Amino acid sequence: LRVIAFEKDLAGKKVLVTAGPTQEAIDPVRYITNHSTGKMGYAIAENAMLRGADVTLVTGPCAMEPPMFAKVKPVISAQDMYEAVTEEYEQTDIVIMTAAVADYRPAQVSTEKVKKKEDDMSIPLTRTKDILATLGASKTHQFLCGFSMETQNMLENSRTKIAKKNLDMIVANNLKVAGAGFGTDTNVITLIANDMEKELPLMSKKEAAGCILDTILERM
Ligand code: CTP
Ligand code: CA
Repeated sequence: LRVIAFEKDLAGKKVLVTAGPTQEAIDPVRYITNHSTGKMGYAIAENAMLRGADVTLVTGPCAMEPPMFAKVKPVISAQDMYEAVTEEYEQTDIVIMTAAVADYRPAQVSTEKVKKKEDDMSIPLTRTKDILATLGASKTHQFLCGFSMETQNMLENSRTKIAKKNLDMIVANNLKVAGAGFGTDTNVITLIANDMEKELPLMSKKEAAGCILDTILERM
């Protein structure tokens, strides 16, 4: 009952959430990825759904069940995520990019399994597309919210990302704070905009999801 008792303050809004890691193939058996579990993104998608939004969740490989009543688009690579997101962008009101998108992918994907040799090896990498920066460059009516995980200079680096990607808000995480970061059920976040810096106390990712959407609604 508590679930259906949510105020429907996002009714009529189309919300696009990205979540999880991406996987960048090296060969048919190996890939490059990161530690994202998708918890924060799934919590935001669920909170938005409960508040009446029309939710699309573009998700990299995650072990969790996606929330009910969301349109789920599973993707693997940064390029897949780019395509899925750009397809939805025009009809979206709020974009929340929690995904930990790989910044680089192997320049060549071997069609056969790479066999080991006696020597060391290195893999040439090439940049992936910056999805948020692309969205920011063609923004019309959308509210764009990014995420930023840092181990140093969190505020300064996050503000640089707001400017570079033309964001309306960024949610910053300091990986070095206890209770924040990958895989935990809690988070310590700071909501940053050009004219705002709101540091929130340690809270569950579900609560954090609610605070993030409250602040976005206030600022739209
Ligand atoms: N992002 C994206 N496309 C990429 C890389 C990142 O859309 N190819 C998004 C992330 O989903 C996140 C935001 O950009 O919402 C910031 O990601 P982050 O990794 O913190 O910043 P980068 O710009 O990639 O810079 P760096 O990793 O060097 O800190
Ligand atoms: Ca990055």
